[in-house]
Amino acid sequence: MTDPKLRVLISSEQIQARIKELGDQISKDYPAGNLHMICILKGATFFMTDLARAMKRDVFIDFMGISTYGKGKTSSGEVRVTKDLDISLEGAEVLIVEDIVDSGITLNYLMHVLDQRRPHSIRIAALLDKPERRLRPVHVSYVGFQIPDQFVVGYGLDYDERYRNLDSICVLEGPEAAGAP
Ligand code: PRP
Repeated sequence: MTDPKLRVLISSEQIQARIKELGDQISKDYPAGNLHMICILKGATFFMTDLARAMKRDVFIDFMGISTYGKGKTSSGEVRVTKDLDISLEGAEVLIVEDIVDSGITLNYLMHVLDQRRPHSIRIAALLDKPERRLRPVHVSYVGFQIPDQFVVGYGLDYDERYRNLDSICVLEGPEAAGAP
């Protein structure tokens, strides 16, 4: 897909190479136990499926929907669960899989919610991290790429539900980007 408004920031080849490294690292870090990969809908679905296939061990997968209001604008973003997990996390090693950490509001909330379900451990894997945008503290154990504060789309990330199916991460430029968060 070519679009004059899109500038490739991270190519498909770079994404796939980094995911292989992350899969190797995470597999080594979890030599035993039930590892539950929790995908946060919808943006993380592409990263989740590639990361799960890069793992060198058996994993459980599940999906969670989160809706956030006011994030990135104030520090009081309201978060709620719109789709809950199907499987119990009790005693499990939990790996939350996200496409991007921005303000940190979503993951800060989610860590508290999932911690109450008595897992053995919880860590976060995020393909992209924008540390300069952080409003709430979040420890991300596995980061694909740190990126500057630019509006990015592709590989799951959208602008108004568009561009999710690009195989690279692109910066959205021009008038559309001016209206983006
Ligand atoms: C995005 C992204 C994270 C969250 C990160 O989701 O997938 O879940 O925002 O932002 P934060 O760190 O500021 O909380 P979004 O709400 O856009 O939903 P989507 O994945 O369905 O596009």
